[in-house]
Amino acid sequence: MLFEVKDVYYTRMRGTPFAVEALKGCSLTIPEGKITAIVGPTQAGKSTLLLTLLGLFRPSRGSVLFRGQDIHQAPFDLEALRLRVGIVFQSPEAQLFEETVGKDVSFGPRRKKLAPAQSRHLVQESLEAVGLPYEEFRTRYTASLSGGQKRRVAIAGVLALEPEAILFDEPTAGLDPQGRQELLALLQRLKTEHQLTIVLTSSSLADVAMLADQVIVLHEGRVVLSGSPRTVLAHAEELLALDITLPEITQIALGLRSLWPALRCDVLTLDELEEELVRFLPHAASQETQLSSP
Ligand SMILES: Nc1ncnc2c1ncn2[C@@H]1O[C@H](COP(=O)(O)OP(=O)(O)OP(=O)(O)O)[C@@H](O)[C@H]1O
Ligand SMILES: [Mg+2]
Repeated sequence: MLFEVKDVYYTRMRGTPFAVEALKGCSLTIPEGKITAIVGPTQAGKSTLLLTLLGLFRPSRGSVLFRGQDIHQAPFDLEALRLRVGIVFQSPEAQLFEETVGKDVSFGPRRKKLAPAQSRHLVQESLEAVGLPYEEFRTRYTASLSGGQKRRVAIAGVLALEPEAILFDEPTAGLDPQGRQELLALLQRLKTEHQLTIVLTSSSLADVAMLADQVIVLHEGRVVLSGSPRTVLAHAEELLALDITLPEITQIALGLRSLWPALRCDVLTLDELEEELVRFLPHAASQETQLSSP
């Protein structure tokens, strides 16, 4: 297990009139080399959880383990953890602070005091991994980039640290449907080609159902559901009540349930919905015949 979060409580703005208990007994595990999606409505505690994983917030109760070691117990090195686990914040602008793309992405390698040739190689690799050709982008001004490009540069900057895992806070927020698809495809590539552990947050299961190996549903600072996307989608009605956006195909299956209450709604693709309907329709037809026969 890369991370284990055990019964963690955390209060934001503790000791002030604005204190809010953002995590209230939160427990979960993050397996290595997989994509974990933390899904929940606004204020569920998703961002707080990511910052707690990195040790930026210290739990008031409970513990966070990285490869079995408590991150707040000596001799654990929190600085080293933050070089091994990168984070991409929700607003990429907040993460770009150099004038040009090349300089921005090389910040990590320079901080690690890598030789210039090695640093250049890493910057080139990282930019190309996010689909930005090095020669074209290295001298571009960060301020002149589109929102989607800024997000990619922020990711390249984290990749250049050669992390083992990256935490993404709402990576698809504010992107158009095409930008969303491109970003999700990029996360999949980072997992398969770079063997990275990925954790992302979202308020929508539509974005992550096809991508995540594991989904953790957070509500009011607690884990309320977890498992494979399919296991979680089987609770579609509860998810809707939590204001979580469902994949279109699940919404259709859920709508059809008003006709056939036993219809499964943990379908992920149109093919699966069709299969479920084929399985179900003769049954429904025979029920109707029975009902209408005198
Ligand atoms: N900077 C802050 N200061 C004080 N309280 C905060 C701060 N940020 C968040 N909170 C509170 O902590 C709780 C959890 O918020 P958090 O931002 O972790 O949720 P979230 O799931 O990331 O929400 P969103 O989807 O809106 O980003 C909420 O009650 C929120 O009001
Ligand atoms: Mg958030």
